[in-house]
Amino acid sequence: MKPPCSLYCSLWFLLLLGAGSLLLLVRLQDLNQVVLQQTPGVNMMADPRRTTEEDAVTYRTSGADQTEIPGQVLSDSLLVIEDSKQPVTKRHRKLLLKNPNPSSAPADAEKEPHLRQQLAAIQASRRRLLTEVCAKYQPGVTEQLVSQRQVSRVFVEDRSRLLYCEVPKAGCSNWKRVLMVLRGSAASTLDIPHNAAHYANHLRRLENYDHAGIAERLRSFTKLLFVREPFERLVSAFRDKFESPNSYYHPVFGRPIISRYRANATRTALRTGAGVTFREFVQYLLDVRRPVGMDIHWEPVSQLCHPCLLRYNFIGKFESLEEEANFLLRSVGAPRNLTFPDFKDRNPRAERTSSTITQRYFSQLNSTERQKAFDFYYMDYLMFNYPKPFKDLH
Ligand SMILES: *[C@@H]1O[C@H](CO)[C@@H](O)[C@H](O)[C@H]1NC(C)=O
Ligand SMILES: *[C@@H]1O[C@H](CO)[C@@H](O)[C@H](O)[C@H]1NC(C)=O
Ligand SMILES: *[C@@H]1O[C@H](CO)[C@@H](O)[C@H](O)[C@H]1NC(C)=O
Repeated sequence: MKPPCSLYCSLWFLLLLGAGSLLLLVRLQDLNQVVLQQTPGVNMMADPRRTTEEDAVTYRTSGADQTEIPGQVLSDSLLVIEDSKQPVTKRHRKLLLKNPNPSSAPADAEKEPHLRQQLAAIQASRRRLLTEVCAKYQPGVTEQLVSQRQVSRVFVEDRSRLLYCEVPKAGCSNWKRVLMVLRGSAASTLDIPHNAAHYANHLRRLENYDHAGIAERLRSFTKLLFVREPFERLVSAFRDKFESPNSYYHPVFGRPIISRYRANATRTALRTGAGVTFREFVQYLLDVRRPVGMDIHWEPVSQLCHPCLLRYNFIGKFESLEEEANFLLRSVGAPRNLTFPDFKDRNPRAERTSSTITQRYFSQLNSTERQKAFDFYYMDYLMFNYPKPFKDLH
């Protein structure tokens, strides 16, 4: 008789996640910083110069690894099933691109072992692609020290052993609600208004733990990240912060943007900072001498969450947020009545930013500006496998 799916699926999923985490030997260095290092001989991601093909061979054949880390062997055999013995290739990436939105499938992952396997395989592919991109563009970064600043966007949920890196405009309010329920500060996500999710969430940030606490959690918790198509995220941030009244973004960002980039601005505009256009906003973003600093709502994920350094176990996409989030929740053994909510927090009456809306905003830019914006988010496009949003980009 087969064991119930919820049990064995959770088990092998955890093993799969475990494989990534276990590979990190986290060692404390003096009192200032924490260093992430590789366990010698466990080679799934150890050497950034190593190709994925070599990794596959290494961790399939090394007997020493098998006795030390059984989870790795198990997860490997599952990957073999999913990948038909092929390491991640161009074919694979195409597959992902062709099917970027598995949530369009009506099936419920919980009842569908096949769908769960598919989602697990997508995770494995995303992690491998990220590893490849990191090896190519940030070689050696995995041996670097992790500073407290670099984990300042990471929220901790100790009961479910989760670390969540907050990416604004990619479902973060709802993730905070879920973390609050997991930690027991609310019975249901329905009870949590927007402001409470952000300002009274009682969630701790990883930077607030001592060095041993940080190292231990980075080593053993499920590290989780949700990303979104970068241009769509940018447009979503712009609409949210500049198109409706905002007592922080208009004075703090709107005023200097209008004063720098608008010829003949009216006195009212200069005083209130209201009415920034998308083009002005992008001019600010791309200006090497910005009149006002960056903001987490439009900062690239590659800089907010340090994916090469922290090596997330789970890389979800906003484009299939609910399905992938629920898959993760079932996999970490969250209460069965906890599902990912779909509140739209900001401007609930405004249409959600879609790719059509995004194209409309970007059509206000000329081709040089579009290219520069693409360059600005290039690492996010690469790391998370989003296709070029316009044909003329290179
Ligand atoms: C989920 O179940 C727990 C007890 O197991 C209960 O306290 C909580 O209110 C339930 N939440 C919802 C939304 O039904
Ligand atoms: C700004 O105002 C001056 C003088 O009224 C005018 O010559 C100029 O064309 C205006 N510039 C723009 C961009 O509207
Ligand atoms: C696009 O606009 C910028 C100003 O933001 C200008 O400097 C540039 O020449 C324009 N490029 C093209 C191809 O029109």
